[in-house]
Amino acid sequence: MKKSIFLKRLLSVSLAAIVSLHLLTSCGNGEKNTQDETSGYTIDNIREYVVGVDEKVELEDGSKRAIINFDNAATTPALQPVSDEVEAQMKMYGSIGRGFSKKSDYSTDLYNNTRSKVLQFVGADEENYTCFYVNNTTDGLNKLASALITDEKDVVLCTRMEHHANDLSWRERCKVIYAEIDKQGRVDYKSLEKMLKKNKVKYVAVTAASNVTGYVTDAHRVAKLAHKYGAKIIVDGAQIVAHRKFSMIGETPEENIDFFVFSAHKMYSPYGGGAVVGLTSVLNKHMPEFYGGGIVTIVTDQEQNYKNAPASYEAGSPNYPGVVGLGKAIDILQEVGFDAISEHEQKLNRKLIDGILKMDNAVVYGDTEDISDRVGVVTFNLTDVNSYHLAAKLSDYGVATRRGAFCAHTYVWRLLGVPDEQAKEYVECGDAGVPGMIRVSFGIYNTEEEVDEFLSILDKAHGECLKEMEIMPYRPGL
Ligand code: ALA
Repeated sequence: MKKSIFLKRLLSVSLAAIVSLHLLTSCGNGEKNTQDETSGYTIDNIREYVVGVDEKVELEDGSKRAIINFDNAATTPALQPVSDEVEAQMKMYGSIGRGFSKKSDYSTDLYNNTRSKVLQFVGADEENYTCFYVNNTTDGLNKLASALITDEKDVVLCTRMEHHANDLSWRERCKVIYAEIDKQGRVDYKSLEKMLKKNKVKYVAVTAASNVTGYVTDAHRVAKLAHKYGAKIIVDGAQIVAHRKFSMIGETPEENIDFFVFSAHKMYSPYGGGAVVGLTSVLNKHMPEFYGGGIVTIVTDQEQNYKNAPASYEAGSPNYPGVVGLGKAIDILQEVGFDAISEHEQKLNRKLIDGILKMDNAVVYGDTEDISDRVGVVTFNLTDVNSYHLAAKLSDYGVATRRGAFCAHTYVWRLLGVPDEQAKEYVECGDAGVPGMIRVSFGIYNTEEEVDEFLSILDKAHGECLKEMEIMPYRPGL
């Protein structure tokens, strides 16, 4: 490049940085700056800010009502300020990391600055950790596995509690061994240590909280064990980020988490964002099998020279709305506060579990007495009716739940007491014929009144299922 052109470019880049900084603090569009607003979101008023919470939908009988959404472990509705922020930032949208325009500079800065917010959210320091964006937890875990696994003989230790995303991503690439669960369905830490002792484990991959029972794993305890035996730890954070404060930094360095993966659509920003936070030094030694523009310094006829993380993990044009939504969702969750969220969920969990257990033939999975280590997820069955039938009835009455084995088959079979051989027989049965449970999963905006109403609807739906046995005969275990 000629010196004069080079200087011109340099000047323009520095000017762009100054302008961007100004735009960033003023939002650059002359309109409401939702970024800087002091808003006053609390656990008591957050329901007012949930998009669609009062939207009436037509039910089976033709009546209309706002549904009770108890399926928040699957995905959460948007918060209005998150949605507003995404819309506002669209006015300044430009090519991220590639363009020569003021909008491009502005949006590139916002995109990159959000990384610091993500690191701060999970307690990770910028000196040792970096963050790359993904579409969701599954995407993040697959990218990580594709980068970190270098030999099919590598050994990864999972638990039998994992979601398929944190099991199959490894299973398809290397050898996976599993720590068992205990009688109540919690991770069995003794089994985990035994596996670490007996095998040369490279990575331990555990969930921070189960999407089936809501159990919170003691990730720092697992980190200490993993590091003791020379392994690194990867934590699937999908089910913790909207429920409990999670810090990657433990009380001692051995307890630190090496990699943490999560989705934004489970934390009130359903715009397809998510992030992987990990040790920069390790990420820089690897790359996912995902190639394209934005990840190279130079490509010649014969060679390509790759950038360091995070760029090397983000080939292609990124999901900017997803990142904007993620940043805003972090602000709001932090403002509402995780102590308040956790306390609220405990109240809802207790009320729901006690209510279900009062019913005939009710089974609630997991520990129903000590629920202090459970986020807002309750799975149950009424064992004289088919859970598929019951979930469909609940939906007819305007209640959203999830039914089945929740992409965590090996865990659900254990909780149901279905042996592996029997589970295999269900392969041809389709969704309705596979054993399962019904899952209620709470969001920060659900209320005790909704739990009361749910219990009365459940009773009614149960009665109707019993009456309709001829249409949908009961098969034990379904
Ligand atoms: N993993 C999500 C769930 O548990 C989709 O429902």
